[in-house]
Amino acid sequence: MAKYLITGGAGFIGSHFCRMALKQNWCESLVNIDALTYAGNLHNLKEIQADPRYRFVHLDLNSGDVDSIVKETEPDVIIHFAAESHVDRSIEDPGLFLKTNIIGTFNLLNAAKNLQTSKKGLRFVMVSTDEVYGSLEATGQFFEETPFAPRSPYSVSKASADMLATAYHHTFNLQTMVVRCSNNYGPNQFPEKLIPQSIIFALQDRSIPVYGKGTNVRDWIYVEDFVAGIQTVIARGKSGEAYNFGGRSECSNIEVVEMILASLKKPSSLIQFVKDRKGHDFRYSMNFDKAERELNWRPTVKFETGLKETIKWYQSNLVWWEAITSGEYLKFYERNYGEKLVLKGRS
Ligand SMILES: NC(=O)c1ccc[n+]([C@@H]2O[C@H](COP(=O)([O-])OP(=O)(O)OC[C@H]3O[C@@H](n4cnc5c(N)ncnc54)[C@H](O)[C@@H]3O)[C@@H](O)[C@H]2O)c1
Repeated sequence: MAKYLITGGAGFIGSHFCRMALKQNWCESLVNIDALTYAGNLHNLKEIQADPRYRFVHLDLNSGDVDSIVKETEPDVIIHFAAESHVDRSIEDPGLFLKTNIIGTFNLLNAAKNLQTSKKGLRFVMVSTDEVYGSLEATGQFFEETPFAPRSPYSVSKASADMLATAYHHTFNLQTMVVRCSNNYGPNQFPEKLIPQSIIFALQDRSIPVYGKGTNVRDWIYVEDFVAGIQTVIARGKSGEAYNFGGRSECSNIEVVEMILASLKKPSSLIQFVKDRKGHDFRYSMNFDKAERELNWRPTVKFETGLKETIKWYQSNLVWWEAITSGEYLKFYERNYGEKLVLKGRS
């Protein structure tokens, strides 16, 4: 069995990956490198922290000694989740996104390249995004061959990291595979993102900000489906290749918020349309025939079902999100929406 090294395992998708990998015995051991930025949360990993196969390393990929940790750990597979991940924050502070998402990835790729001289067969999975392809109008889909056209500092930084990973395959013969995925949702997602923010605000009977007229369209994938997809890439993916993943669940933002309100039996009057995001991409849509054909992967969770599960999780994990929604999140909300956010305390 393989030794895994994960980056960003205290975040949303990475923590689901860590838990599933150990639960389903995908690996012999798992080392999780994370800088614990505002988005990293060790509570996400509570159920595995005492597992003897698991080890946490608090390290910043931008400045820490990545090379030594990679050398010491000798992984068979590296899965690179760590990133600054919120588009709105990339508009506020592009420099941090270029640093973490490009230089951080470069540092990790170099460490992998160095290890490769003694560890043949090392595999590197770069977690990229559908946003590298840019924005679609009402029709059309993104294929793996679609030319990149990123339009936000976030998507530019991810496109650079994506291409850098493939460049290391061609130039240094490192076995790299890229996974590009549509919008994930599920438990443990930081509340600044549309679905958790809308659930939490609806539960608090406070107005829910929706950009523009809410007509922008995203394809939603349940986080466990994406995590299962990454494991198929580790098992069957080909070096130098990219794989698209999607949920076959396209919805406009307003439809998503209305589904949440209906499920919680809250009124539509809670919706508050706010000034649109700068350069807001209109629509993303993934064609993932390649993953179906070559990896035998397909999404298994219907959006309605996954959304209900997610709502249930936030309802029964008040302590988790209340701890998070204090501090940094309140400050970010105020900067982004120009209004102070006061969340009600738990009764
Ligand atoms: N969430 C989505 O819908 C989605 C969709 C497609 C692709 N992705 C990609 O998947 C990956 C994970 O996304 P997420 O939503 O789980 O993100 P997240 O923001 O929830 O978690 C990111 C994690 O990376 C860590 N991190 C940040 N900077 C770091 C650094 N310099 N060194 C070490 N660790 C650092 C954070 O502490 C955090 O634990 C990202 O690469 C993102 O671009 C996300």
